[in-house]
Amino acid sequence: MKSVRFRPAFSDRISGIFTMTVKDNRRPRQINLIPLTDVSTEVQLGIREMRNEDTVRKWMFTDRIIELNEHLAWLSRIKGDQRQIIFVVIDGEGCPVGIASVNAIDYPHKKADWAFYLTEKAPAGLGSALEFAFINFIFDALDMQKLNCQVIEGNDRVVKLHKKFLFEDEGFKRSDIINNGKRIGVHLLGLTRKDWDEGKGGVYEKYGKSLDKYSISVSWDNSQGKGDGKLVDQIEMARARNNLNWMNILRLVLDLSPEHGKALIADIRDIDKEISRLSDKLVSE
Ligand SMILES: CC(C)(COP(=O)(O)OP(=O)(O)OC[C@H]1O[C@@H](n2cnc3c(N)ncnc32)[C@H](O)[C@@H]1OP(=O)(O)O)[C@@H](O)C(=O)NCCC(=O)NCCS
Repeated sequence: MKSVRFRPAFSDRISGIFTMTVKDNRRPRQINLIPLTDVSTEVQLGIREMRNEDTVRKWMFTDRIIELNEHLAWLSRIKGDQRQIIFVVIDGEGCPVGIASVNAIDYPHKKADWAFYLTEKAPAGLGSALEFAFINFIFDALDMQKLNCQVIEGNDRVVKLHKKFLFEDEGFKRSDIINNGKRIGVHLLGLTRKDWDEGKGGVYEKYGKSLDKYSISVSWDNSQGKGDGKLVDQIEMARARNNLNWMNILRLVLDLSPEHGKALIADIRDIDKEISRLSDKLVSE
């Protein structure tokens, strides 16, 4: 897997690696975005703590505390989901500090949704740098033409943040969800690739100094999303997914009810079939 470097600054594509012009002599803080499926089970499970922080969950569509079984079910769902890519944001010390996700990926229409959150312990300015780099990643590496996001009513800071990065209002869904026991609305915001390509220079001119405090790399292999990787890689990935399932079973048996265990066993069985189908193909080639 390549690590594609999306510095907030301008980038030139050289052999698939994005490089940037360093605008000042201070060392930028290195931040890595690693696919959730590639981080350790410990990190995958630890993310639940950040997701459950008050400052994060109150701005999520599901704002209650996420229990372990729900988290495990989510981990299990996203593993085989080609329409979303979840990245763990890892700081220079190797600690997870947040999540950035591309959701509802629609390859025929080249559009997607995105969202992110950071632990409240994350350093100031990281949200902005991450947004700049992640927009570049989604347009350049995933070849999308339109990027959408939804922000819960009251989260004015994030609406403002998105507008700083050229997102425009595309509507407001009144009384759309229940949040903290009340019906509230949802802002719809969107950004076209054309607007981004034309406007990102201006954004960088304005905010480059603070964006350049971070150097953001995204580990991503384009064949991963579209399922056309080499067979050996697919088997490796499937095995890694099943390893996670076995760990989850262990935890479920310790913590939870047998019915959740059955769902995981069914998933293991299906992935085992996939491994054997891929292995058959490999030997018959
Ligand atoms: C959205 C989020 C990732 C942004 O991260 P961040 O680290 O706060 O980002 P930054 O430090 O770059 O700050 C972004 C802006 O918010 C402002 N800000 C930061 N903390 C603030 C606070 N407590 N109150 C008001 N404004 C604040 C910053 O000044 C900055 O504004 P500017 O662009 O005018 O300078 C983070 O706030 C978060 O995880 N929020 C909860 C989840 C969420 O709302 N996700 C978005 C759903 S789409």
